[in-house]
Amino acid sequence: MIVVGVNSDYGIGRGVAKLTGSAYRNFQNKVFPDGESYIRLDANVKGEDVLLVQGMESQPDKRFVEMLMAVDAAFEAGAANVYGLIPYLAYARQDRVFSDGEPVSARAVLRALYDSGMSKIAVIEPHKEQELSYFKGKSVCVNALESVAAKAVAETGSSMLIAPDSGSWGRVNSIAKRLGLKSDYIEKNRSRVDGSLSMVKGLKNAEGNALILDDMISTGGTVAQASREAIAAGASSVNVAAVHLLLVGNAKEKIKDAGVTKVFGSNTILDSECEIIDVSGEAAKAVSTFID
Ligand code: R5P
Repeated sequence: MIVVGVNSDYGIGRGVAKLTGSAYRNFQNKVFPDGESYIRLDANVKGEDVLLVQGMESQPDKRFVEMLMAVDAAFEAGAANVYGLIPYLAYARQDRVFSDGEPVSARAVLRALYDSGMSKIAVIEPHKEQELSYFKGKSVCVNALESVAAKAVAETGSSMLIAPDSGSWGRVNSIAKRLGLKSDYIEKNRSRVDGSLSMVKGLKNAEGNALILDDMISTGGTVAQASREAIAAGASSVNVAAVHLLLVGNAKEKIKDAGVTKVFGSNTILDSECEIIDVSGEAAKAVSTFID
């Protein structure tokens, strides 16, 4: 198998190549004057299985189209099979119709990847594991939350994990039990009209050093609200860990203003001001199931 970085893989492609004993290559990338992406495969892949690695965090539409073009380029160059490793899957949060007339965006994206000819896919911490069934080939979910949590706990000495919404509570609670920590959750409600958050269930009490754990941070609103709640409930300090640090706009400032000391994340997206944990090992394990 040859691992090929498409445009945005932040070292995970190289990490996976090393751990699976595969060669690593890149695409050349350019942007045409009109904004269209140009990619060119810089490797001989004739007769090989090719693993394309592409995160879709910044400029998701572009990254998605580049991935479709990369599949086409790999087959054009004679690849036997084309697989995908997606560090961050865009559009995963629209996994159902919330209001009439909307698409199931996750389904549209995963169907298009399968229809492009990609036969196997590994996705690091998709919003919900079940949505990978929209991909009609083999799909593997790379669970990275627990290793990010364990490293953040080891560094901060946290004694309690907090899930910032009920959807993530089951998972956070199981991780807390395995790490021998207490846990609780907050229930939030997000307005479908303006995206504003309101609290449905707060924390009864929090003590010591608390770690808020979520799959991703986008605008920072969710973890900022959870941090304020944890401090109000008695936590002496609050840190945050999430797999995908999108940190859109003034998210970092918002999180800091809410009393958070440190933000931990994974190398599905890099941020020089946060503590980044390498999850190539988890990805390599998932990808190893592709190799016959
Ligand atoms: C939602 O279900 C996710 O797990 C995250 O909690 C959410 O996407 C975070 O978004 P934001 O940082 O914009 O509040």
